[in-house]
Amino acid sequence: MKKRIAILTSGGDCSGLNAVIESVVRCGELNGFEVIGFKDGYDGLLYNDYMKFTTEGVRDLCRRGGSVLGNSNKTNLFHYREVKDGKVVYSDVSVVAVANLKKDNVEALVIVGGDGSMTSARDFMRKGVNVVCVPKTIDNDIPYTDRSFGYTTAYFHIADALQSLKTTGASHKRVMILEVMGRHAGWLALEGGLAGNADAILLPEINYTIDGIVKFLKERWDNGHPSTTICVSEGAHERNKELVAQINEKYPDSVKLGGVGALLAKQLEDAIAPITGQEVRSTCLGYVQRGGDTNPVDVVLGFRYGALAVDAIVAKQYGKMVTVYNHKDTMIDLVDIVGNGETGETSKGGKNNVDLNCRLIKTARSLGIYLGD
Ligand code: F6P
Repeated sequence: MKKRIAILTSGGDCSGLNAVIESVVRCGELNGFEVIGFKDGYDGLLYNDYMKFTTEGVRDLCRRGGSVLGNSNKTNLFHYREVKDGKVVYSDVSVVAVANLKKDNVEALVIVGGDGSMTSARDFMRKGVNVVCVPKTIDNDIPYTDRSFGYTTAYFHIADALQSLKTTGASHKRVMILEVMGRHAGWLALEGGLAGNADAILLPEINYTIDGIVKFLKERWDNGHPSTTICVSEGAHERNKELVAQINEKYPDSVKLGGVGALLAKQLEDAIAPITGQEVRSTCLGYVQRGGDTNPVDVVLGFRYGALAVDAIVAKQYGKMVTVYNHKDTMIDLVDIVGNGETGETSKGGKNNVDLNCRLIKTARSLGIYLGD
C-alpha cells in the first residue's frame, strides 16, 4: 500500500481552499504519495469518512469557492460536544481519530485551518501524529503570515459592495454603512475600505466615538459631500463600550461577532438627522465575503501553500505551520502560533492585528480617510 497524505479543511470556509487541495494532491502524487481527504473537517477524522483524490480528479478545482471536502467549525475532538439524555457532555475522542489515521496508513496529516484547528493539530502532534498546518482565514489575523489565502478574494467583495453603496448613497444623500468580517483584526475593513474608496473606516484597533463620527459627517456635509460611506469591521466598537456580539456555546469559539453596523446606523441617525437631515442605512456584507470564485491571487497563494505543505512532509518537518512570512517561504512551530496550552502560555507571535504604523494606515490617513481617532 502506498504511503498516504491526508488533508482536511477545518473552521469556516474561505476562497482558495480548493486550490490548496489541488496543490497537495498534485504535489503529493509527484512525490510518490496517495492523497486522501477527510470530509467536514475533524468530523471526517472521527468517523473515518474520507475520499480518495487523484491528480486528474482535482485538476482545475482551484478557482471554485468553498472546499470540496466540506468544513466544520463546531468540532473539537479533544473536547467533543454531545447531547446525552438531554444534557450537554464533553469528552476526549481524539484516540479514535489517531487509530483511524493508523488504519488508513496515513504518513502525514495536512490540516488547513485557523487558530482553533491548529490548537487541535498541536495536540494531535503530541499524540504522535505527523501534522503540517496551512494557515486559513479571510481575516488575515494569523501570526507569522503575510497574507492568508482567501483574504484577497474577500476584500475584493468588500470593494465591490462599497462601490454599489456609493451610488445609491449619493442619490439619496445618505450615510451608508458597510459592516464587514475580520473578527478582532481590522485588515479586511482597512484594505477593503481602501479598495472601495470608503470615506471612513472603523477598525477593532481604533475605538471610535459617536461624537467624532458626527463631527466628521457634519464637516463633509458643510464641504459639499452630502453622502458618506463608512466601512466598519465587525470587531470595531465605541470607546469604553463592549463589542457587539452574541454568545453561542455550540461553537469552540463561542463569541459570534456581528451587529455593530446596525447599532451604529441607529446611533448616527439619531445624532445627524437633526443637523443635516441625513438618513443612515446599514448593510451587513456577511458570508458573501467567504464565497464565490477564488481570485487568481488566492489561487496562486493556495497553490504555494499546498506545495509548501508537501515540501514539509517530504522533509519530515512535522508540527509546523507552513507560511509565507516577510515574503519568504518558511515554517513556524505550532506552539509558537497557538501557545503551549499546558502552562497557559499563549502565542509567541500574538495576534496579527493591524499595526497602526503600517503602510495601509498611513495611506488611509494621507487620503483623508476618517479612522475614528
Ligand atoms: O474567521 C472567519 C470568519 O469569517 C470571521 O470573519 C467571522 O466572524 C466568522 O468567521 C463567522 O463564522 P461562522 O461561520 O461561525 O458564522
